[in-house]
Amino acid sequence: MTDTADLSEFGLFDPAIQQCPHAYYAKMQQDAPVYPAEIPGGTLHLVTRYDDVTEIVRDVATFSNRFDTAGANFHPELAARMKELYEAEGGYDKIGTMLTVDPPDHTRFRRLVTKAFTPKVIADLEPTIREITRGLVADVIAAMEKDGKVEFVETFAVPLPVTVIAKALNVPDDRLADFKRWSDASIAGIGTNITIEERLEAEREVIQFQKYFAEQLELRRENPQGDILTNLLNARIDADEVGDDGEEIDDRPLTMPEMLSIIQQLLVAGNETTTKALTEMMRLLGENPTEWDRLREDPSRAKAVFEETLRLSTPTQGMFRVVKADADVAGTSLCPGDRAVVMYAAANRDPNVFPDPDTFSPDRDNLTSHLAFGKGVHFCLGAALSRLEGKVAAEELARGLASFRLCDSNEYRYHPSFMLRGLVSLDVEVTPA
Ligand code: HEM
Repeated sequence: MTDTADLSEFGLFDPAIQQCPHAYYAKMQQDAPVYPAEIPGGTLHLVTRYDDVTEIVRDVATFSNRFDTAGANFHPELAARMKELYEAEGGYDKIGTMLTVDPPDHTRFRRLVTKAFTPKVIADLEPTIREITRGLVADVIAAMEKDGKVEFVETFAVPLPVTVIAKALNVPDDRLADFKRWSDASIAGIGTNITIEERLEAEREVIQFQKYFAEQLELRRENPQGDILTNLLNARIDADEVGDDGEEIDDRPLTMPEMLSIIQQLLVAGNETTTKALTEMMRLLGENPTEWDRLREDPSRAKAVFEETLRLSTPTQGMFRVVKADADVAGTSLCPGDRAVVMYAAANRDPNVFPDPDTFSPDRDNLTSHLAFGKGVHFCLGAALSRLEGKVAAEELARGLASFRLCDSNEYRYHPSFMLRGLVSLDVEVTPA
């Protein structure tokens, strides 16, 4: 693979390269492990080797997650009009939480949210996830009967995570359509070039979302319900609780704008990523029919199949870091203010860690060593939830379908983004079990 890529042809925003960037990442790992990608307004240093990525994400004192203050999204007219809109319509301030803050702020948020999003809360969702998934497998079969093929992304991979998180947040069925609209609006501005008017339209939906959840949270002050929202409201730092390095943690409970920003971050970080992973799992099973047959014979392989999908088809290909202090990464000097991208998708195919890295192999020894969920303090908060969704999806697809094949008409076009990788559509033909 490495022989074919010429780095002088690489462009981070080149849609043709975004369709299949892996040969370039492999070449970078070999020849330029910290690759300076030129973009309008500066340079992004792409870090591609597994060990370097791991070192960076562990060193939060040097590499900051406050990338939204690095000028990436700054647009004065939009900022002014958003402020106007939020004031006029009574929206709540958006607060940087978890993903976009550093310790010690991060420690407070993460500790409080972890108390709401406990392993038990996630495990208890399994019957709900299974019921939703079975309904979607039935939709897949119905679409096949009606149209002679199924578009898997819209029929299965989009509705599964958004319906699951809605149920987890106790959104009643009659508000599900609103919730889906709010969820789309929350991601409208990310990674795409939409107009200011379109962006403001999306923000109006976000304000509706804020008002709905603010009301639900207030209701739970009087009537606790033992759900994630009540847990968020009541989450407290314990008197004797200290940070990972023994430091004191700011023990203020979450404010309303903080809780609303956290709920929004769950949608933004969780829905599209899981959709993309589920779609890639289907593609990989279609391309590796022996693995599909083995899964059908032994559904306990579901977990491994999803895990290997995450490694090979890492949806969150890269995440920004802003350099805070002089650093040396693989012989490249980085200075305060420099912007780096930890390329999880590249690290997950590092041949020094994953032998035969381009092969889909759910039996590999170090299956869970991949970095698809990141590592360190920002390790994905939703990892357990999306792993559960992926496992149940693989089990229920294998139970409900006798066979399936990828349609010859598929073009396998990926959304044009270097950060989030996923297919625009995937047509399949299925036979019910
Ligand atoms: C296959 C699905 C998913 C993938 C590939 C994924 C990937 C990631 C990655 C790579 C990070 C680390 C970011 C960094 O290094 O800066 C992350 C963080 C995060 N993820 Fe996920 N994620 C997935 C699903 C979810 C779900 C379902 C949720 C919530 C319900 C979620 C919520 C979050 C949050 C809140 C963070 C920030 C954590 C922090 O900074 O402390 N993710 N995710």
